[in-house]
Amino acid sequence: MIFVTGGSGFIGSNYIIRTLGNTNEKILNIDKLTYAGNPDNLISVVDNPHYQFAHADIGDIKLVTKLIKKYKPKKVINFAAESHVDRSILGPSEFIHTNILSTFNLLECMRSYFSEMNDKERVDFRFLHVSTDEVYGSLKENESPFDEHNQYKPNSPYSASKASSDHIVRSYNKTYGLPVITTNCSNNYGPFQFPEKLIPLVINNALSGKKIPIYGDGGQIRDWLYVDDHCDAINEVLNKGKVGETYNIGGKNEKTNLELVKFICSSLDRLKPKENGMQYEEQISFVEDRPGHDRRYAINSEKISKEIGWNPIESFESGIAKTIQWYLSNNEWIENVKSGAYLDWINKQYGNQE
Ligand code: NAD
Ligand code: DAU
Repeated sequence: MIFVTGGSGFIGSNYIIRTLGNTNEKILNIDKLTYAGNPDNLISVVDNPHYQFAHADIGDIKLVTKLIKKYKPKKVINFAAESHVDRSILGPSEFIHTNILSTFNLLECMRSYFSEMNDKERVDFRFLHVSTDEVYGSLKENESPFDEHNQYKPNSPYSASKASSDHIVRSYNKTYGLPVITTNCSNNYGPFQFPEKLIPLVINNALSGKKIPIYGDGGQIRDWLYVDDHCDAINEVLNKGKVGETYNIGGKNEKTNLELVKFICSSLDRLKPKENGMQYEEQISFVEDRPGHDRRYAINSEKISKEIGWNPIESFESGIAKTIQWYLSNNEWIENVKSGAYLDWINKQYGNQE
């Protein structure tokens, strides 16, 4: 049994669907169902006998301990987090609470569980913490991509909270011998991404006839990775990674935001031409920059490539084509997310469970 925390979010749900499809693993998804956790993402696996769901906060020591006693996980993958930089600027408190304190509580549960294991169980157990390239701060145009030795220099409350959790995770290995591994990944894209993030936001605003906001001059660079490649990397690291190590995961796809947005607009011009003959690019609007906006992220994936043999499969062109096609074919998913219909459902379904 693998515990997957935050499995109803963007990457977690892709991970669960892919892993249940490709392996014989049993998965318990532990998710608090914040605004970003969407049960609709997992409709395709809800009846799979290898899949179970627990509506729980990773910070709830009593409940997590109960789940550990019941299911005795062999591995834990911690996706659960507040993940959106702009939200962390508007309201950092939830980020400190979830990404630092709740991760700490989860680690405490795992430390206690690990201390009661026999030798064989200890050898097999892994706690994989999913982190981000944002902990390294911002690169200048001529600097080499981040490798695992770059100094941590987080610039937003989000990245600072993830950096803190990375340090606490590391300390649980050094101090208590908990078999942890941390992965630091670049920007993911693909199905089920909440439309507050750049790619789904652009697609949705373009199709809704709204302005497409570009922060500052749009010259910021991100290294885009198709989400399935990230999920595969996590499974490879889980099986072959060395305890106590960190692995950087990137897509080798550096694009400026403006390049990316224009690419999506021209794809939409082909796939869903506007009735008035105009181009989607005309909806682009330059807006005030994000405070503390990191100029460039880029990942050096040599370590995971050489030691583990993982390399991204999807090209940017193939990945973005799949992604756009998914959003075009899943309009109902987007409408539900936007209307809050799924949050109403969560309140009805789980509202009284505390
Ligand atoms: P997301 O915001 O889409 O999903 C987060 C999930 O965690 C949601 O389902 C939410 O309900 C759940 N959650 C939040 N707080 C919780 C708590 N206290 N207990 C249980 N569940 C809780 O995030 P995502 O984009 O899927 O990112 C997943 C992880 O990967 C995060 O840790 C993020 O920092 C990291 N990451 C994301 C990216 C990216 O590009 N999206 C890149 C690198 C790393
Ligand atoms: O690098 C990994 C990180 O990628 C993850 O750790 C985060 O969880 C994830 O949200 C993402 O962070 P970013 O801030 O890079 O992603 P976002 O989609 O919010 O923005 C991507 C770039 O686009 C960034 O430079 C800001 C810019 N942007 C974003 C939005 C939402 C715009 O110009 N306009 C927008 O409306």
